[in-house]
Amino acid sequence: MPSARAQLVAIGTAVPERRLTNDDLAARVATSDAWIVARTGIRERRICEPGTGLSRLAVPAAQRCLQRAGVAAQDLDGIIVATITPDMVMPATANLVQHQLGACRAWGFDLANACNGFVAALACATAWIESGRARRVLIIGGDIMSSIVDWDDRATCVLFGDGCGAVLVEAGPPDGPGVRSCQLWSDGSGGADLCVPLSGSAMPKTAEALARRDHCLKQQGRTVFAHAVRRMSEAAQSILRQEGLSAADLDLVVPHQANLRIIEPMAERLGVPMSKVVVNLERYGNTTAATIPLALADAEAEGRLRAGSRVLLVAFGGGYAWGAAYVVWGRG
Ligand code: UT7
Repeated sequence: MPSARAQLVAIGTAVPERRLTNDDLAARVATSDAWIVARTGIRERRICEPGTGLSRLAVPAAQRCLQRAGVAAQDLDGIIVATITPDMVMPATANLVQHQLGACRAWGFDLANACNGFVAALACATAWIESGRARRVLIIGGDIMSSIVDWDDRATCVLFGDGCGAVLVEAGPPDGPGVRSCQLWSDGSGGADLCVPLSGSAMPKTAEALARRDHCLKQQGRTVFAHAVRRMSEAAQSILRQEGLSAADLDLVVPHQANLRIIEPMAERLGVPMSKVVVNLERYGNTTAATIPLALADAEAEGRLRAGSRVLLVAFGGGYAWGAAYVVWGRG
């Protein structure tokens, strides 16, 4: 048993005001509300004004989280921002957030693990806390997907949205609630299936590359879909095995929100009824690193997530990168 348990004590979220409905998208590309709902479950998503940096959502999400936790920014030891759409490559958005919060003692960094970013940030925060190197780490999952979506590509633009969520992870008694286990996986052989080709050092920023829309997200949808169902199911089962739990021991499953047609077969393979699975993608679409904290916040607001709830988090995304965690919610 670790000498301290990493407890998840409070959530704060921020999403842009503007709603983009399926009908709005159908006015721009050859799609329809019926196709999008039937193939994904998504009905609308929130979209920022162009030029909105992630920190504009991350700071209010963090402030709401700290206020709900009753913790001052000065008491944070670490800030991890999981994102693939930071304000800039440098400085890290974690630094921008740290400064704007006034978290004068905190060290932080950005973590790029796509849709698995929140679970990966939780794993890092847990390791810091269990090792005694930190007592309070703020993990933020957020993405401004509208900044990298190709708005002329119907196969991808209907899927994504913008949003951000923050969770305070705090050291608690070893026999109290908190993270029981967290596992992560990578398979870079799938990297090209979901990528933004012109986003780093590998490709020069030429007019030709921009004309090819290589600065936008590209996805092999069917391939990624098949991996997502398989990997999320395997990850969830692996965590249950490690903890010696059965599906009946879980109160709530909070999966990454990419597609209802991914979540439903995963739940079926796990043997968990959909009544225990949190789904809110109909209102937000796929917000990449933000889906799990946004879903946790909705579950809490609905009274489904309470102190002592036994929760499984599971995600899959670009990389490929995937992971899962088993958590007993709240402060001990
Ligand atoms: O966040 C983590 C990673 N991402 C994911 O987990 C997403 C994984 N993939 C998916 O969710 C699904 O593959 C999609 C929702 C992206 C696509 O659904 P699908 O059932 O796999 O459709 P498809 O790509 O096989 O396309 C079926 C048809 C195609 O037409 P044809 O070739 O059959 O004539 C597409 O051109 O649907 C067409 N299509 C559309 N039609 C209307 C593709 N996008 C659209 C659209 N509206 N928006």
